[in-house]
Amino acid sequence: MADSTRKLAFVMVGLPARGKTFIARKIARYLSWLGHRTMVFNVGSYRRERLGSRQHHSFFDPRNDAGQAARRDVALAALDDMLSFLREGGDIAIYDATNNTRERRALVRARCEDEGLEVVFVESICNDPALVEENIRANKARSPDYEGVPEEEAVRDFRMRIAHYESAYEEVGEDEGHFVKIIDVGRTLVLHRIEGYLLARVVHYLLNLHVQPRSVWLTRHGESEFNVLGRIGGDSPLSEAGRGYARTLAGVARERIGPDVVVWTSTLRRTIETAEALGLPTRAWRALDEIDAGVCDAMTYEEIADGMPQEYEARQADKFRYRYPRGESYQDVIQRLEPVIFELERERRPVLVIGHQAVLRALYAYMMDRPPNECPYVSIPLHTILELEPTAYGCDERRIDLPPTPVDPEGFRQGP
Ligand code: F6P
Repeated sequence: MADSTRKLAFVMVGLPARGKTFIARKIARYLSWLGHRTMVFNVGSYRRERLGSRQHHSFFDPRNDAGQAARRDVALAALDDMLSFLREGGDIAIYDATNNTRERRALVRARCEDEGLEVVFVESICNDPALVEENIRANKARSPDYEGVPEEEAVRDFRMRIAHYESAYEEVGEDEGHFVKIIDVGRTLVLHRIEGYLLARVVHYLLNLHVQPRSVWLTRHGESEFNVLGRIGGDSPLSEAGRGYARTLAGVARERIGPDVVVWTSTLRRTIETAEALGLPTRAWRALDEIDAGVCDAMTYEEIADGMPQEYEARQADKFRYRYPRGESYQDVIQRLEPVIFELERERRPVLVIGHQAVLRALYAYMMDRPPNECPYVSIPLHTILELEPTAYGCDERRIDLPPTPVDPEGFRQGP
């Protein structure tokens, strides 16, 4: 763990349709990407699995004793699994349930604290009826709980379900320990006893979240002179084919993304030259510069294998953690990309990132929620645009290959 030896349990709090699952999964994705073993335990899934998905709203009525007992059982089963996960090597867990009464939170907290865990409540409060209505229609009425049920009937039943939870709801109080309250999808944040580096990062991350749908487009720069020679790193200009790609990209971006796009490049020539044809304002991030190959910069993989076989083999053995002498590892790249992720989350317009192979792999792993140690092997060919479109709880991906064909599109002269 980054700043504490205590393992962490985030405990979600809030009425149904307040975006708890969205927030829980986002936190999990962010922390997993940073290398913490993180998992979400969603009590709704346990309920559906154990009790079936079709439950009339009266099942959720606090006056329904049988319903209460059944719900408590599934909540405790999820909690037990969460505690086992943390006992067996997990770092951080997120307990995704309504936890809408003090009594329930006290029980969850006591069980976690008995195991030496630090508990942080994350409460989502939404006072904007339009936002709640939108969430009900977009997600809840289409959830597995209402499969085959006409939309209006599902919406009616779900509203009644919310009313049952509302009748028992108690907001988290200052006597309940550490908490973050997210009000109206991040318009206001209230923090209480949030201490330490990791929690500060999570809060900073939460500050930037929004639910406005928009795509993120990733592309490598056009083919560079170094790509043609099979040399890594450096700061070479585009090749003839690379300049051709820059023009094609500009046309495709105009057609498919539109003028209201935010364009980010690295500070290296090949990305800046690729962006020029767009004729749009761009922001050059140092954090987006290609992985620093240190003493191997400007070499070919063959030269590294011949001249520094130990380095070559060490990278082959653990490409994710391997750090080039006086350079970087993929793990280092992920750490320095954190501010880019925060800005990516905050931005409401489509974003086009013109970057480099290793850096885009790391961004891709974040967007697609892939284990970070898989990211060195993600295929990001030259002259290909990836459109990543966030969905309710995940991300859809489309790839568009564009001409001209570079010398080594799939990176066959791939590194170890
Ligand atoms: O070859 C292009 C390149 O962007 C290099 O500059 C960089 O070192 C490399 O790709 C990263 O890919 P890999 O981690 O597979 O070596």
